[in-house]
Amino acid sequence: MSIALFLKEFAADPRATGSVAPSSSALAKEILRGLPLDSSQTVLEYGCGTGAFTSEIMDAISGSCQFLGIESNLSFIRQLRSKFPNVSIHHGSVADVRSICDQYDIGEVDCIVSGLPWAVFPHEAQVKYLKEMMRVLKPGGQFVTFGVLTGLLFPASYLFARMLPDYFSEVSRSPIVWRNIPPAYIYRCRR
Ligand SMILES: C[S@@+](CC[C@H](N)C(=O)[O-])C[C@H]1O[C@@H](n2cnc3c(N)ncnc32)[C@H](O)[C@@H]1O
Repeated sequence: MSIALFLKEFAADPRATGSVAPSSSALAKEILRGLPLDSSQTVLEYGCGTGAFTSEIMDAISGSCQFLGIESNLSFIRQLRSKFPNVSIHHGSVADVRSICDQYDIGEVDCIVSGLPWAVFPHEAQVKYLKEMMRVLKPGGQFVTFGVLTGLLFPASYLFARMLPDYFSEVSRSPIVWRNIPPAYIYRCRR
């Protein structure tokens, strides 16, 4: 079960897992709201976990869209592959997104949906992942990600927010999504 697996992985590596529970379907719906998934040719998901966003993305993209999920935790990868046998999920780090995309013949990407726990990453990792993202996200492409209210206890969450305008021409933050544990907010960014 997704919740039990999350708890186990959080206990084993809180910094990489970033949450004790998978995102709610309310957050999944909200993070995708307004993204042009039905007209996108290529979509990436960063940090799929147990697939809370993956299933919503699958419902929203067209049959011709190329989707690739990238997840670094092997236990989550095993569950994702059994839940979504026909979906491409890569076991690796988004730090290598350019070379990962090369392996799948992906050039530019229209949308990136992220579940990464940015607030618990060291600032160097935040910078590295955003710089690497710029090597795949097309001009005008969109990046959405979320933070949780408890993450605001970590200075890295402010460093991350402050950095976004350096990489994106448009950045907005949503109202709180209360129907999530913990409550969350979304950053919507356009390159
Ligand atoms: C907070 S969980 C979110 C999972 C899922 N998207 C959700 O909302 O329920 C963060 C996920 O990011 C993954 N992750 C952390 N660092 C990563 C990295 N560098 N590359 C790929 N995935 C990573 C973790 O293993 C975990 O599955």
